[in-house]
Amino acid sequence: MIHIAPSLLSADFRNLENEIKSVKDSGADFLHLDIMDGHFVPNITFGPFIVDFCRKTTDLTLDVHLMIEQPEKYIGDFVKAGADIISVHVEACPHLHRQLQFIRSFGIKSGVAVNPATEIDFLDYVIDDLDMILFMTVNPGFSGQKFIPSVLKKIELFNNRYRASLKDDFIVQVDGGVNDKTCKLLTDSGVNCLVSGNYFFKHPDRKEAVKVLKGEIL
Ligand code: DX5
Ligand code: ZN
Repeated sequence: MIHIAPSLLSADFRNLENEIKSVKDSGADFLHLDIMDGHFVPNITFGPFIVDFCRKTTDLTLDVHLMIEQPEKYIGDFVKAGADIISVHVEACPHLHRQLQFIRSFGIKSGVAVNPATEIDFLDYVIDDLDMILFMTVNPGFSGQKFIPSVLKKIELFNNRYRASLKDDFIVQVDGGVNDKTCKLLTDSGVNCLVSGNYFFKHPDRKEAVKVLKGEIL
């Protein structure tokens, strides 16, 4: 089963409530929320206030991607705002094991995001504390960037090393430059959750966009 996670960053914020509803109507499963602090990444987006608004607007799974330094300071606020999954960047977490346990202590799912040039050896030590891995296929900070194909090698490495020991509901997510041209490469490589910003929100028919990403239509 492939999950589709439209990234709100590419939505029309003048019409936020309807944009969120259209994600639900499209048949997508998650709503991906990109939190940027202007330090870890060179862009600033939004915080728990908007996540809370999303929670009040939809029952979609709220998938919160923290691209922030010192995420431990804010994890509790995002949980209160209604996050169902929180992922932190390994590059921003000297105490990753502690952060993952902290996220799970609230009864929600924990994820770790890895930048395109980051190795995944660290997973040996935290794989049991994880519900999701997020492979960045662009350098985080902006939507609408070009897919970085070398990440496919990393996904293959991940499959070879960890796949056999994972639970069926483990989420393997990719984020960045996912569209009709790149989705099949990813789902063929065992990815089961596709984040999509520009492709989804600019598509004239969002239901069709979801079907294309899931590989149900070409
Ligand atoms: C990038 C964000 C992505 C981004 C995806 O830092 O994490 O979620 O919004 O947008 P597209 O699909 O347009 O690359
Ligand atoms: Zn993201």
